[in-house]
Amino acid sequence: MKNSEGRVNFGSRLGAILAAAGSAVGLGNVWRFPYETGNHGGAAFILIYVGLVFLFGLPIMIAEFTIGRRAKASTGEAYRVLAPGTQWKWVGYLGVLTGFLILGYYSVVSGWTLEYIYQALTGGLADKTPAGYIQMFDDFSAGSFRPLLWLAVFLFITHYVVAKGVKDGIERSAKILMPALFVLVVILACCSVSLPGAEKGISFLLKPDFSKVTADVFLGAMGQAFFSLSLGMGCLSTYASYFGPNTRLGATAMSVGLIDTFVAILSGLIIFPAAFAVGINPDAGPSLIFITLPNVFQQAFAGIPVMAVLCSVAFYVLLALAALTSTISLHEVSTAFLCEKFGFTRGRAATLVTSGCVIVGVVSSLSLGVWKHFTIGGLEIFSALDFLTAKIMLPTGAMLSAIFVGWVLDRKLVRDEVTNYGQLRGSYYPVYINVLRFVAPIGIAVIFLNELGLLG
Ligand code: PFF
Repeated sequence: MKNSEGRVNFGSRLGAILAAAGSAVGLGNVWRFPYETGNHGGAAFILIYVGLVFLFGLPIMIAEFTIGRRAKASTGEAYRVLAPGTQWKWVGYLGVLTGFLILGYYSVVSGWTLEYIYQALTGGLADKTPAGYIQMFDDFSAGSFRPLLWLAVFLFITHYVVAKGVKDGIERSAKILMPALFVLVVILACCSVSLPGAEKGISFLLKPDFSKVTADVFLGAMGQAFFSLSLGMGCLSTYASYFGPNTRLGATAMSVGLIDTFVAILSGLIIFPAAFAVGINPDAGPSLIFITLPNVFQQAFAGIPVMAVLCSVAFYVLLALAALTSTISLHEVSTAFLCEKFGFTRGRAATLVTSGCVIVGVVSSLSLGVWKHFTIGGLEIFSALDFLTAKIMLPTGAMLSAIFVGWVLDRKLVRDEVTNYGQLRGSYYPVYINVLRFVAPIGIAVIFLNELGLLG
């Protein structure tokens, strides 16, 4: 469906919500959120996280929606359209570059999920000692063939969906993948909470211990909120350029925020009750789902190997689906930019982006193995890319988009976008605009400085 200016739109409001939620729900929810929660003491972290999602996350998301829908251009061109002749265009270009780099290394981890599905199906996760799971992960992730193969497969699937277009590729895949993901996450959480001994894990997640709350917990929660909600690189603003005039920006942001938080908490409900049930610590960090969890499934269903296989396959399929809807959105930012800026066809633009990402992905994957001695600032390339994008580029992009909508865009235009040109009341507008003007830029500056170690 094209709008009056010839731009493709999502076919329905539900399609728009599911596509945006698909971008938000990803490895950040199922992989990063549980280990951040585990490292920061459980329920207190979750409460703070949820508070920050609503206080900062949703206003910035509405700001990104405003930029995209108003400009009717992907993020790479939107700032140039809205503030022609100014340097703001660089914020758009920064978003494209950030998305491209994230896609490169994010696809490496996404590829790992395919290896683990394969291993689960072929019995490779059965009968190992805890040290055996560590060895298996270390050998695999440092390898030079299998991770690259799965990376290529994952990027190829992403490419296929993006090349099919906004409605037939992105929207249609979100409408299939998101419900599948909800079903899997709910089934797995029910299995996990019904294991004997799961109560400790449930109370770890649901009973806050405020003695654990430090400034670091706030900062960790804020970084997690941006990454998880896909904010700071114009991914959602690119999707918003396909929103129709009746899509309600506030309600869509609220739905995306709720879905994203729901999946994150349910992922915690999959992992912690199961880990506590078999006496495994919840603070294993990033390796939690690739090393700890296969072990948990084997132990939890020691007498019923079929269940162990089923749960492992279901879990890694869940992870792969979540990752796929996010890689699609990351890919779209660069693809749409190349189409708009250089007039490429979608297929050609998508091919260029995929080829570039294969290179970034291969380099990041090999940097965990044979190329680990090439370092930038003491980090191998994979971690350096993660640091550069998640800790520097995303907060910078989020702060600049808040400032752009809060201070630079015409006030009437901003109000018109949140009220759909007077059709809605938009009673949250006064709070929203003040968060964008003051609270968000200052808050982000604080995380940013802290993460760079400049606050002591
Ligand atoms: N939100 C995704 C996740 O939680 O895994 C990651 C992500 C996607 C970050 C798209 C940024 C982005 F633009």
